[in-house]
Amino acid sequence: MLEQLKDLHAQALEELSKVDNPQELEAWRIRYLGKKSSLIRILRSVGSLPLDERQSIGAKANEVKRALESSLEEKGRSLQEALLTSHRESQRLDVTLPGRPLPIGRLHPTTQTLNEICDVFKNMGFQVIEGPDVEWDYYNFEALNIPQHHPARDMFATLWIDAGMGGKARLLRTHTSPMQIRLMEKERPPIRAIVPGRVYRYEATDATHESMFYQVEGLAVDKNITMADLKGTLFEFCRCIFGEDRKVRFRCDYFPFVEPGVEVAIECSACAGAGCRLCGYSGWIEILGAGMVHPDVLARVDIDPRIYSGFAFGMGVERIPMLRYGIDDIRLFYSNDLRFLRQF
Ligand code: DAH
Repeated sequence: MLEQLKDLHAQALEELSKVDNPQELEAWRIRYLGKKSSLIRILRSVGSLPLDERQSIGAKANEVKRALESSLEEKGRSLQEALLTSHRESQRLDVTLPGRPLPIGRLHPTTQTLNEICDVFKNMGFQVIEGPDVEWDYYNFEALNIPQHHPARDMFATLWIDAGMGGKARLLRTHTSPMQIRLMEKERPPIRAIVPGRVYRYEATDATHESMFYQVEGLAVDKNITMADLKGTLFEFCRCIFGEDRKVRFRCDYFPFVEPGVEVAIECSACAGAGCRLCGYSGWIEILGAGMVHPDVLARVDIDPRIYSGFAFGMGVERIPMLRYGIDDIRLFYSNDLRFLRQF
């Protein structure tokens, strides 16, 4: 029986060495250490053996049992270890792999230009404010000296939202000028502010017309503001945006809310003033309207025109990148073609 126990031990270890997963290990345990295994049966029968054999067989059987139990435990540990290692291996992060490229966005050319314009005026001490796109007739027209039936309303193809009486009709603002009134209603001079924002026109779109585009409005009101301040401010702006050498033209124009009104143009970049298709063969490109705030406009917001004066200006924004980069169709700006937008 001692021989039998030795063989059993050897056979068990031999089989255990081939076990390589927890299921097999459990089967092995049942086979060699389970209640019905030969080893346990031998252990149970020890009591009925003749006395001389009882001790040696009992001791040997117990020794084999302990040995198998500790082999089982060890195998269990090493299987667990192997499992962990292979799991870790399969989850390993290869830090030498090249990263996945993330698409990088950029600012829209209009936004870039707006930021540039705002920076120029901020450096001259103007604050930047914004106003509503949906506006009352009163602010967009009436308070700016454009009463109903005034011919200047023809300048603005208006998108009406509803038809209220008098100044109570709502519309999409056709220019940023209504913010002059809102600003002067709220604040007393000295005022120095610019207003970037979207404006809307009821327009059939073509290469030079969009139904939505951007303007930047400017307003300065204080004692002793003169035309010289207006001219100095706008010439400095042109110098910053278009460069030292670009010629600037300053001449009379008419806008109901300023007196006198002026128009600023710069020398055409495409033909250097010689005249071409871009500038309508005039050599000049208009970039903004401006003037001295009309005394009636000041009086309407309770600013005494005998004490205070001011200047105002308004410019189209898309014009600037169009001139700079030779873009010949304003519709490109808002048609969301990435091939166009990625160039800026
Ligand atoms: N609001 C005018 C337009 O959209 C532009 C303009 C002209 C603004 C003269 C002004 C100004 O502030 O003084 O055509």
